Amino acid sequence: MHKSNQDTSLNPFTSEEASENYSNADFLYEQSARHAVNFFSPLIADPDSKIIDLGTGTGVSAKVLIENGAKNLTLIDPSVAMLQQAEKKFSAAASYIQAGAEDFAVHFNHDVDVIYALNCFHLFSDIGAVFEEIKKASKPNAHFIFNVSMPSFCFGLMPEDEYNCVKANRDFYNNLALVSDSPLIGNTVRLFDKLLNEDFEGLVSKTVMTELINSCGLKLENYAEYAIEGDSKAQKIIWELISTCLIPVKEERLDFLNNQKAPEKMFFRQAFFDILVNND
Ligand SMILES: C[S@@+](CC[C@H](N)C(=O)[O-])C[C@H]1O[C@@H](n2cnc3c(N)ncnc32)[C@H](O)[C@@H]1O
Repeated sequence: MHKSNQDTSLNPFTSEEASENYSNADFLYEQSARHAVNFFSPLIADPDSKIIDLGTGTGVSAKVLIENGAKNLTLIDPSVAMLQQAEKKFSAAASYIQAGAEDFAVHFNHDVDVIYALNCFHLFSDIGAVFEEIKKASKPNAHFIFNVSMPSFCFGLMPEDEYNCVKANRDFYNNLALVSDSPLIGNTVRLFDKLLNEDFEGLVSKTVMTELINSCGLKLENYAEYAIEGDSKAQKIIWELISTCLIPVKEERLDFLNNQKAPEKMFFRQAFFDILVNND
């Protein structure tokens, strides 16, 4: 595994416990991977395609890529603990690099066909720098496919199920702020509050993201939205994973989780961006 010295202090996925518990939420992350992979099955199955799964985590999307025929696959993540879980699953079926999206391109030279970054875009510290790295790694007309979800992405007015789910999540993060000093929580509560108040000013939307993509010399090829849905049990599993990342002491964590009220329905939207890179 290639290693980097990136500062991972803003990454909640660095502990061994978080990486071990991550598979409890596979059912959710796998849904995103299947949607994303559907866009590009022929390109993935081409044995000559060089594919990167950026922010691979424990390799949930890598599993779907391999199932769809990916042969030349590199898994990249700044968290050693997450990469080790992926390496246990796939061994020699993939290559592994410890790096962030902001500093991975040194390992490539305009030779990559498809780059996936699923369920991690909100963790990137500098999106402009990430796009520059994508350009350095990619062949002409390569694809960069990433997804975004609320609250870091704004879809506008919310249906009732989504509103109730956002409200419950805002309350969850507010309670989390009382027991964890993670710098990620304050901003998450702020975003949830803005969505609930229909104050969309300053939030990242499709228009804002498209302008950013264009200003970096990239071209938006496809865009799609869908919703991830589940019951209150599914929401609790997600909250358990988030708490594992942010409350290190197990007893404190279980006590905290017992007092959280999950919404009847888990419902949140995601959006896919398929970007054409280095096109002439
Ligand atoms: C929610 S997990 C998503 C994992 C996987 N892509 C999936 O869909 O299941 C987020 C992953 O992003 C990684 N990550 C955090 N900061 C990152 C960065 N700056 N660049 C790339 N990956 C990052 C984390 O270590 C974690 O493994």
